[in-house]
Amino acid sequence: KNIALLAGGFTGEYEVSLNSAKNIKANLDNTKYKVYTVLVNRDRWFYEDGSERYDIDKNDFSLTVKGVKIKFDFAFITIHGSPGEDGKMQGYLDMLGISYNTCDATTSALSMNKAYTKTIVNGIHGLHTAKSIRLFKNDVHDVATLAANLKFPLFIKPNNGGSSVGMSKVYNVAELPAALTKAFHEDEEILVEEFIKGREFSRGIARLHGKIQVLPGTEIITTKDFFDYEAKYTSGVTEEVTPADLTPQKDAQIAEIITEVYLRLNAKGMTRVDFILQENTNDFYFIEINTTPGQSSASLIPQQVRAAGMSLPDFYAELIESNL
Ligand code: DAL
Ligand code: MG
Repeated sequence: KNIALLAGGFTGEYEVSLNSAKNIKANLDNTKYKVYTVLVNRDRWFYEDGSERYDIDKNDFSLTVKGVKIKFDFAFITIHGSPGEDGKMQGYLDMLGISYNTCDATTSALSMNKAYTKTIVNGIHGLHTAKSIRLFKNDVHDVATLAANLKFPLFIKPNNGGSSVGMSKVYNVAELPAALTKAFHEDEEILVEEFIKGREFSRGIARLHGKIQVLPGTEIITTKDFFDYEAKYTSGVTEEVTPADLTPQKDAQIAEIITEVYLRLNAKGMTRVDFILQENTNDFYFIEINTTPGQSSASLIPQQVRAAGMSLPDFYAELIESNL
């Protein structure tokens, strides 16, 4: 079967996506799939073979390599952020009738938007969300009002971002203007959210052949002030403990909660939910769901798949077969 592995994209997570694609390709080479990595840029979508670049025909999502037309049976999207995680690519593939590995267009678009997602998962038994205010770029922003309505420290994040690009943690009102500017550089809308003190975790969940599978969780222990881009992608800065050291009750509780998150959002494929175990209350707080989570060899999902005793080639193959 011919698989188009879609990588790149339009955001600051471009490099992360290339690393995800490299690992997926390495694990699918020498299997029954023929994988073509297709780089998606604003101007061109192309497949590279040596020094030659072959453009995708966007009319039918095909490739012609040395005069031979290649039609794809499946698109494996590993673009983080737009247009692979926000529903745009999904909508395009839906129109052409090509199946893919992720949530559908609606769920992808909704899940990319942290504020909308919070409104849907709010009310799941045992799951809390941090208080936050959503701001739009074209509005006038009064930092004094923000400071009066929320408790410091605050996280300032692009509402549709990923990998902590454009994100800041601020401790006082004086730090707010620069943080807002930085986040608005990445997105038209941002989220100003109260910091929840506690232990941070992340856990993968997938539907394989109709059955939901929750992977072992990972605890994230960083030496940085928060799990920012550097902490995520520089080795040695963050300790990632998989499987996470939680009591069996808490472990079972969070597995049930993220299953409910997955079902409520009508998610498909492989997703990863980030959450905090609050220090004083021992309650879970939802951070966000990632619908095309990182897949580089050091990323959390590959760690969790290995911890579950599965091989990555088998896992990726199952994802493809489940969604073909
Ligand atoms: N947004 C990054 C790639 C992740 O969630 O893993
Ligand atoms: Mg994310």
